[in-house]
Amino acid sequence: MYVLCALDEIKNKTSKGFQTPIGSLFAVKKKGKIYLYANECPHMGVGLEWQPDQFLDSSKQLIQCAVHGAQFLIDSGQCIHGPCSGQKLRAVPFEINENDEIILRVSSR
Ligand code: FES
Repeated sequence: MYVLCALDEIKNKTSKGFQTPIGSLFAVKKKGKIYLYANECPHMGVGLEWQPDQFLDSSKQLIQCAVHGAQFLIDSGQCIHGPCSGQKLRAVPFEINENDEIILRVSSR
């Protein structure tokens, strides 16, 4: 089990990046719900953020890649605009534990 952070460390309409045993990930909170994805643009496999923990566009409605501007739906990771249109971010399974922390079910060796 690997703890990413407390649920309330991520505010609504914000995002947060993590370096984990299974690679670089990021979480977005929208309407109280967490979405977790691998931090790899389907276009060129690079990280999406334009500054640390900044993965959203200026409207806070979409995930946006800082490299060529691809935009993704927060709920599904589907790219709706940009060079990888139609492709998807890779969703990463997670759980919320009894302490309201976001956790990965991986061994942290
Ligand atoms: S690397 Fe993300 S849009 Fe090109």
